[in-house]
Amino acid sequence: MKAILVGFMGSGKTTVGNLLAKKLKTPYHDLDDVIVEMAGKSIQQIFEESGEMAFRQLEHEALIQSLDQEGVLGTGGGTPIQDMNFELLQNTKVPVILLDVLPETIMERLRDDTGRPLAQELGLTGLVTLKSERDERYEQVSDFRIATDDLKPTEVVEAISRKL
Ligand code: S3P
Repeated sequence: MKAILVGFMGSGKTTVGNLLAKKLKTPYHDLDDVIVEMAGKSIQQIFEESGEMAFRQLEHEALIQSLDQEGVLGTGGGTPIQDMNFELLQNTKVPVILLDVLPETIMERLRDDTGRPLAQELGLTGLVTLKSERDERYEQVSDFRIATDDLKPTEVVEAISRKL
């Protein structure tokens, strides 16, 4: 991998990751998509039929598999929170970039989301609490942080490129 993006749901990992990969002329891998392919089910279905623990196990396997690939990797919002992934991400030589956003921006972006089981389960206030619980880990695992609230996706990509 050339770069790994971490951050909360709605922080723009997929949009920015695709653009960054294009700029670096390398493939983009979205960890959620790798999981969906491995399981042959949507994220929603995995949560409903097998529960979050099963999802986290698949996510860990998908991360190990993806770290060996060439390209840019967009992780899921919960990926760095799991101890076994946290260590992998801390120890990798690949730059890990935190895309950060204010809770207000996340609430705005996830308000009508139906594809994120945790967002639906927790509601908007629950999401803000979850983000505050996770923020320290995102910081610890990343090499640098970009505050994306006032930036267009292309500007986020520029900011990342300057630091890579
Ligand atoms: C999750 C984030 C999602 C997805 C799953 C769980 C989380 O990824 O992996 O729904 O725990 O924050 P995105 O951050 O791409 O939405």
